[in-house]
Amino acid sequence: MCGIIGYVGDREAAPVLLEGLRRLEYRGYDSAGLAVLEEDGSLCVHKRAGKLDELARALQGAPPRGNLGIGHTRWATHGRPTDANAHPVADCSGRVLVVHNGIIENYRTLKEWLQGRGHRFATETDTEVIAHLVEEGLANGQALPEATRAAVSRLQGANAVLVVSSQWPQGLVAARLGNAGGVVVGLGQGECLVASDLPALLPYTRRVIFLSGGEMAQVSRDGVCIYTLSGQPVSRQPVEVPYDPLSVAKGPYKHFMLKEMMEQPECVLDTLRGRVDFESMRVELEDVDLPREVLSRLRRVVLVGMGTSYHAALVGRHYMETIARLPAEAENASEFRYRDPLVGPDTLVVAVTQSGETVDTLAAMEEARSKGCTLAAVCNVIGSQASRLADCVVYTRCGLEVGVCSTKTFTASLVVLYLLACYLAQARGTQPPEVLAGLLSPLARLPYLLGELTERAEEYERLAHLFYRFGNFLYLGRGIQYPIALEGALKLKEVSYIHAEGYPAGEMKHGPIALIDQDMPVVAIAVRDHLYDKMRNNLEQVKAREGRLIVLASEGDEEMARLADHVVGVPEAPPLLLPVLTAVPLQFFAYYIALRRGCDVDQPRNLAKTVTVE
Ligand code: G6P
Repeated sequence: MCGIIGYVGDREAAPVLLEGLRRLEYRGYDSAGLAVLEEDGSLCVHKRAGKLDELARALQGAPPRGNLGIGHTRWATHGRPTDANAHPVADCSGRVLVVHNGIIENYRTLKEWLQGRGHRFATETDTEVIAHLVEEGLANGQALPEATRAAVSRLQGANAVLVVSSQWPQGLVAARLGNAGGVVVGLGQGECLVASDLPALLPYTRRVIFLSGGEMAQVSRDGVCIYTLSGQPVSRQPVEVPYDPLSVAKGPYKHFMLKEMMEQPECVLDTLRGRVDFESMRVELEDVDLPREVLSRLRRVVLVGMGTSYHAALVGRHYMETIARLPAEAENASEFRYRDPLVGPDTLVVAVTQSGETVDTLAAMEEARSKGCTLAAVCNVIGSQASRLADCVVYTRCGLEVGVCSTKTFTASLVVLYLLACYLAQARGTQPPEVLAGLLSPLARLPYLLGELTERAEEYERLAHLFYRFGNFLYLGRGIQYPIALEGALKLKEVSYIHAEGYPAGEMKHGPIALIDQDMPVVAIAVRDHLYDKMRNNLEQVKAREGRLIVLASEGDEEMARLADHVVGVPEAPPLLLPVLTAVPLQFFAYYIALRRGCDVDQPRNLAKTVTVE
């Protein structure tokens, strides 16, 4: 995840930018750069591959002098971490500079269009198209804000952007597209800052404004003017953030659970960052370097985990079979460890564990180790016990998850398992390159689609208010959506203390159907996949018994809209990626029901974030 920062005011910009980048370095540190508008009206750029110290050293001799600038700390997605590919990135004239966090999905089309108009590209980044598009606007007589608005309106994907130009010395322009990549504006006395995250702003001000997706800000030393991408002014009062670390960490949100659900687009973006080369359509997992003989002797995969991580493992099983073409099973770690399982050197055991410290999962790993299996871990906490035990680890990059019930680490774990399956397919040659490319390319859009879902929090809240008094719920799904039904039911149990069961929809006739009446709402996941027709038949059976039906359906599905009492729309995506999306409305539904019932959502009774006892 990249960090972006901008400053305009009375201070020297370079030290402020550098200090801000230090506070954002946790977001990425393969290269860094800054640009300052100097007194002679030219933009002075310094950028270096490597850690921030490299940039600081480069600045020591002759720091640029001026009161307006932008900075960036990078985690490469498009283009290697070199000096040239570091941000800020310039247009042809060097009069426009851009820093960027995100993935521009349509950058190839834009690049070709720009090259056709004579623009020369100096980097391998997707970011550079923004600089050239702004240059086009300036050449047509637009001022920087207008040119930036026109430029970012052409971008697809979830992106956060800061732009400066020597032709607009009064300030900088910020834009946020989709919900991945935060943009916060800090309002000081005679100065303003913009950054990806609060810690970079707090030494200067506690009065801040958070930009939403689809919004832009024109930032000068006297203040900020916010408007939408369609040019409509937005009136938003600044909020005062209290300066205690926990509240800072919570940002504008009431609960960590809400914050963490909202962070999912960015967590998925960060989890993907640098791991998929969208040019060559290959997966590169930095910590997975399994020897050829290990890869070729693998005959099966066993995924283990507990709670939410077990549900991720159940989805992972589908990925291993469908993508990696390896027979796979998923098992609750506490069962696996005592079963004397028949596993051995031909087995890859994948432990899914957010904390990396869950006792049953660690014990399952030990058991697998003693039987000669190869061990992989999917983990969020760097250096945790599971990461040390495993032969290879693929981290979810979610930052700290504070809410006891896992949300952002669940969706990010699904993405990691998908990547791991693609890696195995690639390394073992079990999928032709064109199939692999078809599996990888839709990942670029996933953060954006997640952003579309998190934007609809109010819709989920309204639905929750209709259902918060019920005492029992049934969740139904089929195939790869069955684990999501389990996860939806678990979320509701954990935070609202309402009894909920997840079932494979085909099993309904064998018992649960006896429970269905007006008092037992059914939450069904019936998005468009190869089991859609089967699912619809199951739901007809629920309706015939007067059940109340809430259906997660693909957007625009009229048939489901007729059948269901309430429909929650899910954007279209390849069926294998749909679980990453369908999980989200179910998390929000549980959250808002719990809130309405007055439950402590961040610390539900009897639960613990990390279970280190049996
Ligand atoms: C606890 C937490 C759950 C979590 C489970 C597994 O029960 O409350 O949210 O899913 O442990 O934790 P892990 O850290 O191994 O993913």
